[in-house]
Amino acid sequence: MAEERLIKSNKRVKDHGEVFTPKQIVKLMLDQDELQDDLKSLTATFLEPAAGEGAFLTEVLRRKLLMAKRLSHSMTEYEQHALLALSSLYGIELLVDNTERLVMNMYHTFYHAYIAELQRYGEYENKATVSSAITIISANMVQGNALTGRNKDDQPIVFSEWRQLPEKRKAVWVQRTEYTFDAIINDGPSLDGQIKGHGVEELSLFELDDNRVEEVVPMSYAPLKITDVYKEKLIET
Ligand SMILES: C[S@@+](CC[C@H](N)C(=O)[O-])C[C@H]1O[C@@H](n2cnc3c(N)ncnc32)[C@H](O)[C@@H]1O
Repeated sequence: MAEERLIKSNKRVKDHGEVFTPKQIVKLMLDQDELQDDLKSLTATFLEPAAGEGAFLTEVLRRKLLMAKRLSHSMTEYEQHALLALSSLYGIELLVDNTERLVMNMYHTFYHAYIAELQRYGEYENKATVSSAITIISANMVQGNALTGRNKDDQPIVFSEWRQLPEKRKAVWVQRTEYTFDAIINDGPSLDGQIKGHGVEELSLFELDDNRVEEVVPMSYAPLKITDVYKEKLIET
């Protein structure tokens, strides 16, 4: 078995506190009783604000995908449930190379589970599902400084909410809305103590106050089937 690499260099540890959490510890931490309901929910949101390569997020995704499998009776249902689960997970990572690994690790975790289900049902890959997974991961796993809310280009960190709409003809529909991380922090639940520590926190990320700042990023996406979000269709004004 390949040895787990928890430290890349002493310099990175010193500069960025970069020490990855061993898999066994991640599993133990996620076994805590108070997390179980949220890990079984496809839509309960989780944020890892110093995500590294996604030690916690990939394990949360793996567990949520098992739930998606349990809740589904067809490949079509599984695809929708799996994408919903994916859309509930958010990560911020300061270093560009770690962010790239984070994105890749989330994709591999999703794809591995997806292929296993395709084989079980004897079906072929649906390109729209895979493209939508990539769109969701790219929107939810972001490079940036969780303390300042800005990315390497000094632009605000932006997250997308994927709000589930009423089903239409058994298809899951979502409405994507973008918010800056700053708006979520200032108008949503407190993240005190979550930035420096290890781990992932279940948060109702998008429960912003009624008199919240309006969506700060003026991007209005049209409601779409969750398997079509890769189209990134905007509302025409
Ligand atoms: C202790 S490691 C933990 C990584 C991961 N959560 C894990 O448990 O394996 C901390 C990570 O946070 C990143 N980091 C440090 N300061 C940060 C900041 N202000 N915003 C976002 N990420 C940060 C580092 O680059 C590093 O990858």
